Amino acid sequence: MSGYDTTKAPPANLQQFYENTKARIQKIQSHLANSPRGIRLKDKVCIITGVGSLKGIGRASALLFAHEGAKHLYLIDFDTKNLPDLKATIERLYPDVKATTMQGDAADEALISGVCERALKEEGKLDVFFANAGIATVNPLEGITAESFMNVMRVNSLSCFLAIKYGSAAMKSVNESRGKKVSGGSIILTASVAGLRSGAGTIDYSASKAAVNSMAKTAPYQLQKTDIRVNSICPGLIETGMTTDTFTYARSRGADAKIGQLNPMGRFGVAEEIAQAALFLASDDSSYVNGQNFAVDGGLSSSHPVMPGRWA
Ligand SMILES: NC(=O)c1ccc[n+]([C@@H]2O[C@H](COP(=O)([O-])OP(=O)(O)OC[C@H]3O[C@@H](n4cnc5c(N)ncnc54)[C@H](O)[C@@H]3O)[C@@H](O)[C@H]2O)c1
Repeated sequence: MSGYDTTKAPPANLQQFYENTKARIQKIQSHLANSPRGIRLKDKVCIITGVGSLKGIGRASALLFAHEGAKHLYLIDFDTKNLPDLKATIERLYPDVKATTMQGDAADEALISGVCERALKEEGKLDVFFANAGIATVNPLEGITAESFMNVMRVNSLSCFLAIKYGSAAMKSVNESRGKKVSGGSIILTASVAGLRSGAGTIDYSASKAAVNSMAKTAPYQLQKTDIRVNSICPGLIETGMTTDTFTYARSRGADAKIGQLNPMGRFGVAEEIAQAALFLASDDSSYVNGQNFAVDGGLSSSHPVMPGRWA
């Protein structure tokens, strides 16, 4: 079909559409408070990195994993500031869930191998590794040095490699006496739509996330017949600590209603929506999903570029 029918277009009034978006987001963000505890991660031992940001994907995932009955969450961030609050919140809302917070670098080999070993020692198994920590960059090509390029690759890509290497070794480990009879687990990597194609990030950030997407596809073939699944999530534009400046700038110019208008849903996303994708991949609900780059982006990456407002 060519052209578009304006009578079928979404609300013509941008402000009204934005009000609807805000109401929708408020509903999404109140999901945990308004829904009963689940059992989708019952008894699962999980590691999550990058949990320290109050509005971040890692924290939202930690809370959702606890809500869904995870047994023990090992929660890592470089920045210690909000870790005590995260631990206290989980312990207050979900007293049956163990929360261990750790300060450290997700790209530190000793830390990552150590936390995997610790899970084996304390719980006898590791079920889920959500390698979510990451950094964004803002410099155009001329401002990127060889050193800064390698740092982005280290934090964003090496961290995921270490999660695969040490996470899968722990997931293969069998411990009959503690109920772990066969190999298995789920490794989830946070990539980005910037790792799928151009137009969503700087060259170093995009390259680092493309590497993550590649590892999500190659790792399953290194882990054949282990029942260890590896997938990446590719978020679109999500309001978190990482994107605060973008949102603040847009709001300062009165352009709030236009944020996210390039995807067919016409809005930005929130961390809780990415957490739901991580929950699906962490749980047995996704038992046959492997080697995928799972875009959670309102449809942004599904199309060639289109003019805003043009829907076909
Ligand atoms: N927000 C978005 O629009 C968006 C889009 C695509 C992908 N992502 C990815 O989502 C992931 C989570 O980011 P977010 O949006 O929640 O941002 P955020 O900045 O709110 O949270 C990221 C967290 O990772 C931590 N971190 C950074 N480097 C670390 C390291 N080396 N070791 C341990 N912790 C470290 C930070 O301290 C922070 O708490 C990142 O990998 C990011 O690249 C975000």
